[in-house]
Amino acid sequence: MANNATVIGLGFVGLTTATFFANRGIKVYGIDSDIERIEAIKENRVPFFEPKLDHFVKKALLSQMLIVKNDLYDGVKNSKFIFICVGTPMAQDGKVDLTSITKVSKDIGTAINNVKKYQVICVKSTVPPGTTENTILTKIEKTSGKRAYKDFGIGFIPEFLSEGSAVKDMTKPHKIVIGTNDTKSLLSIDNFLMKIYGMGIHTIKTSIISAELIKYANNAFLATKISFINTIANICNHLPGTDVDVVAKALGSDPRIGNQFLVAGPGYGGSCLPKDLSGFIVCCKETGYEPILLKAIEAVNKDQVIIIMDILSKRLGTLKDKSISILGTAFKKNTDDIRESVSINLIRKLKNLANVNVHDPKALDNTRKIFGHSIKYSYSLKDALSDCDCLIIMTEWDEYKEITQKQILENNKNRPVLVVDTRRLVNFKKTNKIVYVALGKNTFVYK
Ligand code: UGA
Repeated sequence: MANNATVIGLGFVGLTTATFFANRGIKVYGIDSDIERIEAIKENRVPFFEPKLDHFVKKALLSQMLIVKNDLYDGVKNSKFIFICVGTPMAQDGKVDLTSITKVSKDIGTAINNVKKYQVICVKSTVPPGTTENTILTKIEKTSGKRAYKDFGIGFIPEFLSEGSAVKDMTKPHKIVIGTNDTKSLLSIDNFLMKIYGMGIHTIKTSIISAELIKYANNAFLATKISFINTIANICNHLPGTDVDVVAKALGSDPRIGNQFLVAGPGYGGSCLPKDLSGFIVCCKETGYEPILLKAIEAVNKDQVIIIMDILSKRLGTLKDKSISILGTAFKKNTDDIRESVSINLIRKLKNLANVNVHDPKALDNTRKIFGHSIKYSYSLKDALSDCDCLIIMTEWDEYKEITQKQILENNKNRPVLVVDTRRLVNFKKTNKIVYVALGKNTFVYK
């Protein structure tokens, strides 16, 4: 058993964690209930786009330090550390759906039932404060017949990696948070992580519930910065002569503010920030506290798409029979993930009003799964730039920065085009054929 680890749930967090541990010399059992996902990984195929992860996976499989399976029993029985990385998606009512994590907790309990050695359960899935002790721990105790803190250890170790830079973030984390309620669990987890990372990583040791809150607070603060700068961008839209990027640069140079997460855009999306803010709001309300600030952050984010729709109706008048090309459906660059992407939300609003054509370097197949034949898909950027009345840049892919005014004019046979640039990537000049609107950038002219 030694320091073997089982990682349950092979999404962005789980697969990156499992392969990272395996490449650091830990024998890892990677578990996922999705049979197709396991088959793909066995064949060295990462089932989603994440830069550099394929190389990580290949290395871990080749060295035989990573074994992937559907069933968790063997791995859990033979591991000292069991990492729970299953999804905790948003339910209809904005709460967190704990179905998978509850099932996995019961299964872990059944699997450790006859194990004589001390094992430690490490929760990495983002959960509302209180869930590790009140749900996960109690389910494991019930099905294992064992007592937490005595027969097995438990801790909450939040993950701060971002999609698109998962490998880098996993290899060099800006911090490690270890949430435990007993010394034996803390020492076991701390020793394990020290062996992997060595000294020198900022580590915060706290209680389980504080660690759960840290994860929510971390994502809520990132969302706050984005909604704040989007508010400034919206003000800039109404103040001729202002530029949100200049404001952001000045703010960011104040070390008390910091320059990251101050890029205004169409609003935050993805599988984490929207879900975690929503879960956090519900959780605050359940404690009896009305989280006014968190609700405002969410409201600002939801309004960003309406601001884009307003620009279209103001500039194009009726959308009927207009051809609109949307560049980027992924929620950010370097991923094929379209979960809670504002672009997807925009397409939903536009597809019955206009002719919609979409382009994305990585996420078109996922986009097609949602919209089927109801919109057009351009696999080449040239197609997306052609024959359109309006072009909306939604995702900050590097290749969109290279688009030129000349390209747009040529591909549209000089027909007038409205270019709405939600990420301020192309910075076009005003011509009589192109109307360029950049969110948060209101032309300043030197007198
Ligand atoms: C987020 C956090 O950044 C991670 O620390 C955390 O571990 C992860 O959630 C999680 O909880 O698992 P991620 O969802 O991958 O990571 O994406 P972010 O890089 O945070 O971007 C989220 C959204 O904010 C994107 O739509 C992005 O375009 C937008 N954004 C980000 C902005 O509009 N402006 C910015 O300045 C930064």
